[in-house]
Amino acid sequence: MANDTDSYKKTAAERGAELVESGMVVGLGHGSTALFAVRRLAARLGSGELRDIIGVPCSRFMAEEARRLRIRLTTLEHHPAVDMTIDGADEVDPNLNLIKGGGGALLREKIVAQASAREVIVVDEAKISPALGTKWAVPVEVFEFGWRPTMEALSNLGAEVTLRVTEDGKPFQTDHGNLILDANFGPIEDVASLAARLDALAAVAGHGLFLGIATDVIVAGPSGVQHLTKK
Ligand code: A5P
Repeated sequence: MANDTDSYKKTAAERGAELVESGMVVGLGHGSTALFAVRRLAARLGSGELRDIIGVPCSRFMAEEARRLRIRLTTLEHHPAVDMTIDGADEVDPNLNLIKGGGGALLREKIVAQASAREVIVVDEAKISPALGTKWAVPVEVFEFGWRPTMEALSNLGAEVTLRVTEDGKPFQTDHGNLILDANFGPIEDVASLAARLDALAAVAGHGLFLGIATDVIVAGPSGVQHLTKK
């Protein structure tokens, strides 16, 4: 039986998938909520309600799922402009800034998001937060060569840092063969300045602060569904 969180994720994701129109190039996010959206897109294609969409997957996992569901796929090389991406998030602040990367696909997710005319984030209400960092650490994807000094640098910025590991205790590797440092800053006062500091570290391939990127956030919870849009 699905729990409440799953049912809110599904509701938000399906509402997001309804925004997709025939002929669109669609970014397919990563994570359990994005997967609900992809399944809904497949159902809409299957019923004939939607035609000729082509997906840009944000992870190998999502590429496999989409193929299995018979969604046609492309790459940013062939379709550098994405009409709309549907993706999840780990934390959303009142300005629609996000922490993403709980699923480890943050780098591709940000690349696809920045190539998208519309970035639709679908979340359950528990992801809404007064300040980024309150509920979630910031995932920082690092080149293996420099992970240790980057860990020190993140600690010096005030974070408690852990190297992400898999269930069997091995370092988690992203689709790009990089490592992830989860940097817990607590509630972040100035997200833009932190993002700039992370971007300045040479071994950082990407980080989970998505600032000014979401155009829409669809939130589902016990009181229903809200569709927030960027001001
Ligand atoms: C994947 O790397 C993430 O950015 C996900 O979008 C985020 O972790 C949300 O995941 P769920 O939809 O599984 O909660």
